[in-house]
Amino acid sequence: MRVRLFGFKVVFAFGLALSLGGCFLEKAVVEQPPNTMSAEDCGTCHKNEFREWKKSPHAQAWVSETFRQQTDGYQTTKCLTCHRPDPIYGIEDPKKITARKENANEGVTCVTCHLTPESEIGGPHLVLPAHYVKSSDDYYLDSKQCGVCHQAHYQDWKKTEKSMVSKKLETCQDCHMPAVRRKLIVEQLFQYVHWENDTKKHTFEPQPDPISKAEPWFVATHRILPLHRDGLPIEVVIRHNLPHGVPAGIFGFKTVDMLVTLKTAEGLTVEQQHLVFHAENKKNMPIGQDYKKIFNFSKEVLVKAEYIEISLSRRNSRLHLGKQIFIQQTRL
Ligand code: HEC
Ligand code: HEC
Ligand code: HEC
Ligand code: HEC
Ligand code: HEC
Repeated sequence: MRVRLFGFKVVFAFGLALSLGGCFLEKAVVEQPPNTMSAEDCGTCHKNEFREWKKSPHAQAWVSETFRQQTDGYQTTKCLTCHRPDPIYGIEDPKKITARKENANEGVTCVTCHLTPESEIGGPHLVLPAHYVKSSDDYYLDSKQCGVCHQAHYQDWKKTEKSMVSKKLETCQDCHMPAVRRKLIVEQLFQYVHWENDTKKHTFEPQPDPISKAEPWFVATHRILPLHRDGLPIEVVIRHNLPHGVPAGIFGFKTVDMLVTLKTAEGLTVEQQHLVFHAENKKNMPIGQDYKKIFNFSKEVLVKAEYIEISLSRRNSRLHLGKQIFIQQTRL
């Protein structure tokens, strides 16, 4: 339970919310059969969550051009369920997920995660009942919720008994929904009867948490091996502290590119080597293991290079140019 309940404020706010609720809230949310509620409908009050979600991959799950092509223009019915799902509340077997009729374009939308079989809207907080809410629901703090669709990541995650990063970054939500203190509703008159809460960004993008003194996501080291006939071998060891392989997953195209660049004191590139990790087992960086690789550089680099830069970038069908997820420069 994250919200402190103190007498007067609550009683007053409760009363006010109920009376206001009578006017707007019940009408907006409850009169409409909830599954037909679009993200935009929810977003009239939950503006922050809406804007974040809108830019997230979940909002692209159906309209994705790659997905459209791979399903022959949405003909392959077995593929459609997770990409425009009905509410998944409590479902553990992905085969039981069904495809939503309403608002298909919204892909993995608000009601997918928030609507319960009792037509309540679930969430982890204790809140004023603006619409039918299933308050203080721990389901939303559980990796299982994400795992029903992200099976490969979830299977990996289950193998790690405790977080390899930090107690505070244990579940999918902990890392992929960065924490932020704010109101649940904003830019609405009746926001003033609500207080701030510990909420989560709906970007689904991991964001390193500077407060928890967590272990870094990635750690890289290098060792120069004895010079031999063909050149200068440098061993690079990279370890990640994530509870799933990098990359992982069975759906879609994804790679992580590692670049090892030797640079002069002025930062000019002397020589660069490239390695690609794929999502399949044994071609990725698995959990809890050091990944070692020897790169052979030409002998000349010994004279010119002062620094070694090691970077990782993630690519998928939308991130063609890659998104950097790690970079480190050290003296050679
Ligand atoms: C069990 C749920 C589920 C089913 C069924 C499913 N997907 Fe997905 N799909 C996902 C998840 C989750 C992702 C996100 C990536 C990940 O976690 O691996 C994804 C991502 C994708 C992507 C990457 C998005 C992009 O635009 O690059 C493509 C393409 C894709 N799926 C195609 C398919 C196809 C084709 C099928 C049918 C053969 C299918 N999916 C069936 C859950 C599912
Ligand atoms: C008319 C305004 C309005 C609309 C529309 C609306 N909500 Fe809410 N919602 C609220 C208010 C007010 C609260 C309580 C906020 C508080 O007490 O801090 C709330 C609370 C919540 C919570 C928190 C529940 C908890 O226990 O943690 C979730 C989740 C939620 N809404 C999701 C949705 C979804 C999904 C939709 C669309 C289907 C939606 N809301 C539509 C006003 C609205
Ligand atoms: C109903 C199925 C479903 C659920 C539940 C779900 N996702 Fe997804 N997720 C998807 C699909 C489908 C995609 C692929 C969208 C695309 O890229 O087009 C995706 C994409 C993602 C991506 C981006 C993947 C990439 O390769 O860029 C992340 C990160 C993610 N989801 C995290 C989460 C987290 C965290 C949760 C739990 C809070 C969650 N998801 C719950 C279906 C789901
Ligand atoms: C300790 C933090 C942490 C936890 C816990 C975590 N992840 Fe991740 N996850 C990351 C980071 C960091 C990346 C890679 C960086 C990026 O994609 O921007 C990532 C990448 C991903 C991706 C993108 C595709 C890929 O494979 O590179 C998906 C999907 C994903 N995680 C899903 C999940 C799911 C589902 C869970 C829970 C079972 C989970 N993650 C738990 C930190 C975490
Ligand atoms: C992939 C699943 C998923 C989707 C899609 C999703 N949410 Fe959430 N939402 C969650 C989870 C998990 C939490 C609990 C976060 C926490 O621990 O506070 C949450 C919490 C919330 C809360 C309570 C405040 C908070 O951050 O805790 C509101 C309000 C909310 N969501 C609204 C929305 C709206 C509006 C949409 C659509 C625009 C939406 N959500 C889409 C998973 C989802």
